[in-house]
Amino acid sequence: MSRTPLMAGNWKMNLDHLEANHLVQGLAMELRDHNHDYSRCEVLVIPPFTDIRTVQTIVDADELGIKYGAQDVSIHDNGAYTGEISTSMLTKLGCTYVVMGHSERREYHNESDELVGAKARKVLDAGMTPILCCGEALEVRKAGTHVEFVLSQIRAALAGWSAQDVAQIVIAYEPIWAIGTGETATAEDAQEVCGAIRSALAQDFGAETAEVTRVLYGGSAKPDNIKELMAQPDIDGALIGGASLKADSFAEMARFYA
Ligand code: 13P
Repeated sequence: MSRTPLMAGNWKMNLDHLEANHLVQGLAMELRDHNHDYSRCEVLVIPPFTDIRTVQTIVDADELGIKYGAQDVSIHDNGAYTGEISTSMLTKLGCTYVVMGHSERREYHNESDELVGAKARKVLDAGMTPILCCGEALEVRKAGTHVEFVLSQIRAALAGWSAQDVAQIVIAYEPIWAIGTGETATAEDAQEVCGAIRSALAQDFGAETAEVTRVLYGGSAKPDNIKELMAQPDIDGALIGGASLKADSFAEMARFYA
């Protein structure tokens, strides 16, 4: 398969820079001790902004294979935007990925599909990889319109994009009812939506683009269920919250292939 699996740890608003230091060192050690093959699974940590410099220092000093990125970014280059962080600030720190459209930002910060799409555009133009999140709430799932809902989020964010650009992004399907609840979507539920995302990409941007674009699952992914999730044909990795905050569980997930 042409898609390299990706295990991405979204720390959310957890861990100060000292704790970040501890976790990244521990993660690197776990992966090294088990001879982790980074070509079989990319490992990415996504800490809060205040931890990024610390993570960069460890990764550079120890020449780690671990990658790191940010949880959000501004659509502006610089200027009077109090509290915002620009793409150039992130590239300067060696970030290679940025998350946008997480359901927590959509809900608590009113982020629209259009804004999410603009952030993805900005990140790609800065030479980083956008991780575009989508996912339905429980009511939508109960109504049975989850596939339609998720595809409309993605189509709105990527409206007007070229196939070449879409091929460079990562899409993360995170059903809201499965986030932090311990309630994982079954591997079949996750595959249904991830498969539908790939089919929609094929329809809108061509089969070649759909074939190379990575689609992740997120929502109570953990060592216990990662193998089953990764065995699905259209799941190329996971966006992991809680289980990424412990070096041993996250490293175990990155070694799902072993
Ligand atoms: P949990 O793995 O804690 O359910 O979080 C998932 C998530 O929202 C990752 O972005």
